[in-house]
Amino acid sequence: MIRFDIVTVFPEIIENYCNASIIGRAQKLEKVSIVAHDLRKWTTDKHHTVDDRVFGGGPGMLMKVEPLYRAVTALKEVAVKDGYVPYVLATVASGTLFTQERAQQLSSPSTSTAYIVLCGHYEGFDARIFDFVDESFSVGPYVLTGGELPSLVLIDTVTRLIPEVLGNEESAGDETTFSFAGKNLQVSGEHPQYTSPAEFSFTDASGKMQTQTVPPILRSGDHKKIKDENESQRVNKTFLSE
Ligand SMILES: C[S@@+](CC[C@H](N)C(=O)[O-])C[C@H]1O[C@@H](n2cnc3c(N)ncnc32)[C@H](O)[C@@H]1O
Repeated sequence: MIRFDIVTVFPEIIENYCNASIIGRAQKLEKVSIVAHDLRKWTTDKHHTVDDRVFGGGPGMLMKVEPLYRAVTALKEVAVKDGYVPYVLATVASGTLFTQERAQQLSSPSTSTAYIVLCGHYEGFDARIFDFVDESFSVGPYVLTGGELPSLVLIDTVTRLIPEVLGNEESAGDETTFSFAGKNLQVSGEHPQYTSPAEFSFTDASGKMQTQTVPPILRSGDHKKIKDENESQRVNKTFLSE
């Protein structure tokens, strides 16, 4: 089994998301275990301080190394005792770009693995914690207020790839795929899909009635033709790096 130990100052963000929908069901089915840990648990002062000013000046606060170190050490110890191999990840805006390929790899570890994920906040981490981190990942070229969303991205993308997590109605079979050609990102987008009604009517901005109709071939029942049609409707895009 895969386990996620998320270290955060906002455990409720992780819990609220992970207890709902497909990820919630995956936990109930024991395909994955997700525990959000409050970093303040590993503080020793009465104010439960997790941050402080930056040496050398600069705006904002940094997450202190000691509670993070204690959290990593404690969670690694418990993971090993429970028969898991611990692997520590940190959410970092300038980290390695997280991809579907990486999600695939993390979803099929060769042994039971506990992913211990550190969520940054404020201006980020005291750099000394990175000596105890195996991988720093970024979910995209933008800066968020905290590492909770990136952690949820990791949990969600990895969990849905674990066998039997998705039911037939949510299958990961024919999805958008991503690959890199050098620095360029190539995306093969899923073909357009439709559900009932076969005809949808609406009034446009000029007050005229319009009707959108599902392509008849998709309602023909001819599986070979439908497959060919869907394949031809995939949208291939290349996002150039420059
Ligand atoms: C306000 S950000 C800190 C940004 C940091 N000062 C910088 O310039 O890179 C606070 C935290 O959010 C998380 N974070 C923000 N953007 C992220 C991204 N694109 N991917 C992963 N984590 C991110 C990191 O944990 C980070 O420490």
